[in-house]
Amino acid sequence: MIKKCLFPAAGYGTRFLPATKAMPKEMLPVVNKPLIQYGVEEALDAGLTEISIVTGRGKRALEDHFDISYELENQIKGTDKEKYLVGIRKLLDECSFSYTRQTEMKGLGHAILTGRPLIGDEPFAVVLADDLCVNLEGDGVLTQMVKLYKQYRCTIVAIQEVDPQETNKYGVIAGDLIGDDLYRVRNMVEKPKPEDAPSNLAIIGRYILTPDIFALIEQTEPGKGGEIQITDALMKQAQDGCVIAYKFKGKRFDCGGAEGYIEATNFCFEHFYKTGKAY
Ligand code: G1P
Repeated sequence: MIKKCLFPAAGYGTRFLPATKAMPKEMLPVVNKPLIQYGVEEALDAGLTEISIVTGRGKRALEDHFDISYELENQIKGTDKEKYLVGIRKLLDECSFSYTRQTEMKGLGHAILTGRPLIGDEPFAVVLADDLCVNLEGDGVLTQMVKLYKQYRCTIVAIQEVDPQETNKYGVIAGDLIGDDLYRVRNMVEKPKPEDAPSNLAIIGRYILTPDIFALIEQTEPGKGGEIQITDALMKQAQDGCVIAYKFKGKRFDCGGAEGYIEATNFCFEHFYKTGKAY
């Protein structure tokens, strides 16, 4: 049903300079895998096999990563190092990858709109790869959200409670509780100051969007920071009662900054690498 997953990946990753000067931030390794690979694995687990990536200048390493390296294949064929490629080979076998370039950085809403030709007129997921999400207890976060989409057939955003002092880093929602960890969204604000925030329920980088979002983004004026904000476009869907916010099960690491990145690294080392589940 939902087959497509969009990865906006054109951003500069300024918080990680100089590491991200010549390398896409989505390629930063968390232990032994680049950030974006965790996101694609989560998408595939949820049954999303058509991977669409919005890239930009200097991001070619992303395309090379999701492709065969014949030299490497040849080099390690029949050796005990072949196991290192099992995970990435599975992604190449089971997913398709398509790309488009965002030539100007005009915000997340604009990045998603840039992906429209790859998505067309169907519901789709969006993953912001620098939010690394894991759930050791069961379904991955996107799998949880796809299940909800099947039930509600409307836009779903993933939320978590954040420190009330940190609302200015996120899109923040207010809504009515309609079930376990589920809210029908009434209001949403992009990066409000703590005193203006409608709650401390912050949107994190997982969305399932219905395709009417594209026309709504087109009608959205630049908002916070002069950028086209997805939160502002979503607010128009929310006014019709068509956005559900879901407090997901699992953990999320903000790998866009050093602290979350180090936490994610320690977590993945402990739970995936040391236990032999990292390839
Ligand atoms: C974007 C969105 C914001 C959301 C966040 C999640 O912000 O604009 O609403 O809460 O992603 O990571 P960014 O972190 O790209 O500034």
